[in-house]
Amino acid sequence: MEFFDVVIVGAGAAGMMCAIEAAKRGRSVLVIDHARAAGEKIRISGGGRCNFTNIHAGPRNFLSRNPHFCISALKRYTQHDFLALVKSHGIAFHEKTLGQLFCDGSATQIIALLLDGMKRHGAQLRLNTRVEKIDKAGDRFVVGLAGGPVGCASLVVASGGKSIPKMGASGFGYEVAAQFGVGIVETRPALVPLTFEPNTLERLKPLAGIAVDAQVSCNKARFDEAMLFTHRGISGPSILQISSYWREGDEIGIAMAPGVDVFGVLREARARNGKQAVQTVLSAFLPKKLAQTIAEQSGALKNLADMPDKELRRIEAAVNGWRIKPSGSEGYRTAEVTLGGVDTRDLDSRTMAARSVPGLYFIGEVVDVTGWLGGYNFQWAWSSGWCAGQAV
Ligand code: FDA
Repeated sequence: MEFFDVVIVGAGAAGMMCAIEAAKRGRSVLVIDHARAAGEKIRISGGGRCNFTNIHAGPRNFLSRNPHFCISALKRYTQHDFLALVKSHGIAFHEKTLGQLFCDGSATQIIALLLDGMKRHGAQLRLNTRVEKIDKAGDRFVVGLAGGPVGCASLVVASGGKSIPKMGASGFGYEVAAQFGVGIVETRPALVPLTFEPNTLERLKPLAGIAVDAQVSCNKARFDEAMLFTHRGISGPSILQISSYWREGDEIGIAMAPGVDVFGVLREARARNGKQAVQTVLSAFLPKKLAQTIAEQSGALKNLADMPDKELRRIEAAVNGWRIKPSGSEGYRTAEVTLGGVDTRDLDSRTMAARSVPGLYFIGEVVDVTGWLGGYNFQWAWSSGWCAGQAV
């Protein structure tokens, strides 16, 4: 039987980073993936340009049952470390918004960087290879593959979450965790479009195509980012972000002109010129069509002079105190990530090793650490992969 110091299941962001670091330390490394190509999620990420990290990344940008778990790994291998690697490969990049770093060219440059590192340090890659079973014999693992079993001292599970099954996502990592008695925090789709009842959709339909810089909140989380009206309701970065905090039955709160004292502005406008229509005043800080729809749907198609304070308050609430109840989410089919996963209580935060199973490691998205939208999830993959790479 072939034997490797380290076998890594999953040639995604976390698995490849781990392979490079382990191979650099002289370990013999085999990376296995059932897909036809390595790093498929990197390839499609960030609209093909890969938002590979965020310059502001820190523990507050991650969700986990234990919010402290990610601190050590994020400190040991930071966004600046990954950026230095990107620069050393001459990959041009830019900040798009809010610290989000993207390739100027193509996400495939990041995949090439990782494959190059693996090759240079002698890590082997086997694609189109399915893991049939895993056994532990003494202090070694035996990984059953179609072409015959391989043995290893360290087994690293880097098989990602459940999002986008069409791209090879599987429940593999959770099954391995269950097999070895490692706990799992219930999973759910995150960074996912929310869905709405037909009545709500009908009301929102005329607004499709309009974008605003909104403040969206739910369950104590709040995001100031773009929101887009679409034929499927509302979407855009702020809605994807809040989806990670939303639970069935919750309403989300939306301010479409955050920071604007809508009541004050309307009252002042009424005192100055009562003959103005509400939508004229609103369109100073909202797209015209949205201003008109708010006036129409609030029954306020009249002059300001005819509106008592109570009505102005109602308009204010429609603009900045809008509450909407999603009916569900689009699920793993379109979710960018999976919330929950391997329970961090059962892992060592410095090495990602399973506490009760010597030699077994979990890294990347399969772990119960989930980042916000904006390059944070790749940073977690780099940081957790790097840490395991120092320990295997
Ligand atoms: P990842 O899913 O990348 O890799 C897991 C690998 O394991 C895959 O190659 C898979 O084929 C393999 N595998 C699974 N089961 C297996 C099995 N049973 N046997 C063998 N192999 C198996 N994040 C970010 O920070 N910036 C961004 O721009 C984006 N953009 C983005 C767009 C889209 C459309 C999606 C779906 C996701 C993103 N993300 C993102 C999230 C990001 O892609 C994700 O968090 C990381 O890819 C996770 O890296 P991992 O290495 O943990 O898993």
